[in-house]
Amino acid sequence: MTAEPGTRVLRADKAAISAAAEVLRQGGLVAFPTETVYGLGADARHGEAIARLYAAKGRPAFNPLIAHVADLDAARQLAVFDADAEKLAAAFWPGPLTLVLPKRPDCPVAALALAGLDSIAIRVPSQKTARALLAAFGGPVVAPSANRSGHVSPTSAAHVLADLRGRIDLILDDGDCDVGVESTIVALLGEPTLLRPGGLPREDIERVLGHALASPSIDDAGDAPLAPGMLASHYAPKATVRLEASTPRAGEALLAFGDAPAFDGTTFNLSPRGDLIEAAANLFSHLRALDASGATAIAVMPVPRDGLGDAINDRLSRAAAPKP
Ligand code: TXA
Ligand code: MG
Repeated sequence: MTAEPGTRVLRADKAAISAAAEVLRQGGLVAFPTETVYGLGADARHGEAIARLYAAKGRPAFNPLIAHVADLDAARQLAVFDADAEKLAAAFWPGPLTLVLPKRPDCPVAALALAGLDSIAIRVPSQKTARALLAAFGGPVVAPSANRSGHVSPTSAAHVLADLRGRIDLILDDGDCDVGVESTIVALLGEPTLLRPGGLPREDIERVLGHALASPSIDDAGDAPLAPGMLASHYAPKATVRLEASTPRAGEALLAFGDAPAFDGTTFNLSPRGDLIEAAANLFSHLRALDASGATAIAVMPVPRDGLGDAINDRLSRAAAPKP
C-alpha cells in the first residue's frame, strides 16, 4: 500500500511501532490493529489530541472512548476493580472484552475522552501489534474504531485509509483483524450489565460471573432501548446553564469562548484564541471547575457550530436542558 499525503502507512515492524509511539507522544493520531477492529489511537491524557481524534472521525457528539492499556496493572491505575471486575479481567484479558468501571479519583485520562463521566471503559487487547504499541508508548491510549462516524468499523489498513486518509498521521498495517466485530462491553457499576454484544460471547462472561448479565435499561425518553454508546449519560453541571449569552448577568459565572467581555465574576475560557479543538479539550473540565467554584448559574458565550463546534454545542445544550 502506498502512503497518502499526510497519512503514512507502515508495515507494523519494530521500527514502525517505535515511530507510532513517538507520534502518540507528540499528540498525534495513529490507527492500529486490534483483534477486534482497527482503532484510532490518541494519548488518553492529552485533551487536544483527543479533540483532534473526534474531529478526524467526524463524530457528531463526544461519545466516551475506550482506554486501551498493556495489562491489568496499568488498568488498575485508571479504575477501581471489584471482585467481579477481577474475575472477568483474570478470565478474559487480554482479549475482546471492555469493562466499564468506576474511574479512580486520580485517573489521568482527559475528561473529554470520558465525556465527563465518573466511569471509564477499559480494555487490554490481545493483538500483537496493539500490545507492542501499548508497551512502547507506556501509557493509556484511547481508541474508537478507526472509521468516519456513521461508517462500519475497519478490519484492515485499507479500510482505515479509505475513511481517514489525510486526516490522521499514521496507520500501522498488520493485516486483517481476527475477530472483526468490536469488543463486548460490560458495565460493572452496579448489577453487571451487557452494554454491547461483541467479540466475546455473553455466555462465556455469564459462566465466569455465575449468573446472567442484566440488559441495559431504557433511555431518558423512557421508551426506547438504548443503542450502544447511548447508555452513558453525559456530564450535567449542577448549576443552571444559559446558552448564547454574550453578556453575563450579575450572579452568574461565565463560560467564555474567544474574546470575553470584562466581567468580575468567575470566568473560565474554553479557548481565548477561539480555537474549537482547544475548546473541545477544555469543555468537560471547565464545566466541572465551574460547578466546583460553587456557581449556581452559568452563562455560556456563543460557540460557532462548524467542525467540533457541532459537538460542543450538542453537549452544551444537554448541559442546559432542564434537570429531571
Ligand atoms: O473493539 C473495540 O472495542 C474497538 C477497538 C478499537 O478496541 N473500539 C471501539 O470503540 O469499538 P468505539 O468508540 O467505536 O465504541 C466504544 C463504545 C461506545 O459505544 C461508547 O459509548 C462506549 O463504548 N463507552 C465508552 N465509555 C463508556 C462508559 N464510561 N459508559 C458506557 N459506555 C461507554
Ligand atoms: Mg465505533
